[in-house]
Amino acid sequence: MASAGLGADLLLANEVLDEARLRSMVDTARQHDARVTVAVDSPATIAAAATAGVREVLIDVDVGLPRCGVMPDAAGDLAMRAAEVGLVVRGVMGYEGHLQMDLDPSRRAERVREAMIALRSAHRDVGGDIVSAGGTGTHRDLVIGLDDPAGVTEVQAGSYALMDTDYMRHDAGFVPAIDLIGTVISVGARHGVIDVGLKALGMDHGPPTIDGAAVWFCSDEHITFAPDDGSLPRLGDRIRVRPAHLDPTVARHQVMWLVDGDTVVEPWPIDMRHW
Ligand SMILES: Cc1ncc(COP(=O)(O)O)c(C=O)c1O
Repeated sequence: MASAGLGADLLLANEVLDEARLRSMVDTARQHDARVTVAVDSPATIAAAATAGVREVLIDVDVGLPRCGVMPDAAGDLAMRAAEVGLVVRGVMGYEGHLQMDLDPSRRAERVREAMIALRSAHRDVGGDIVSAGGTGTHRDLVIGLDDPAGVTEVQAGSYALMDTDYMRHDAGFVPAIDLIGTVISVGARHGVIDVGLKALGMDHGPPTIDGAAVWFCSDEHITFAPDDGSLPRLGDRIRVRPAHLDPTVARHQVMWLVDGDTVVEPWPIDMRHW
């Protein structure tokens, strides 16, 4: 993102212990005059950041998702530790990933509010200008601005840019912008087969979909499908497939082709997928 010119204020919203990786990121940021802030949640991630030349961090706070982050009441001490080794603590982040797929809007809003109140209690001890949280499923539940006791200053949503069919179950207000394009390589009595399979798809959120057709099943190299109107596809037809989970799907590919309708505008390399 830094080398693509998007380096005004980037957040690496994850813990990194590997100093070599962090150093390589710091070097890239320097070359492109980019500002990168890194999440930390332990003395070890603070030490790695400081050693690698990272200058700015956010304290990652556990707001209910059992993944990264310190408990809210430990955030202040960790911030002090980061300051002691010369890091600038810009504030806190807390990812309420466990609430993204709660499809009941009022329950979700209430649970997100509780999570953000916990994040703000950590922020009181940590200080700084940033309270960063949220995702595509919860962006509407967040209040922007610190006047509200559950308010935040920035939203970490990412999937909204391309969307996937899992998030489309939500009325999240975004349209899908990503497809895989398969070719029909075999036609049976009642079905067609395209050359897109498990090796090309993140399947942890379920099978992909094809507009106007039923997906029967996916195998390593194939999707078996049948058009809803009873017709059969022809060999060589190009079929658009929508993934159920965008992030791990993208990470299985080397290049994304940016298109305007059916016209290819340019290829985008997916260069961070093995990082
Ligand atoms: C720490 C963190 N913040 C924000 C997000 C954004 O979520 P989404 O892509 O669902 O908008 C994620 C998603 O994995 C995440 O891990």
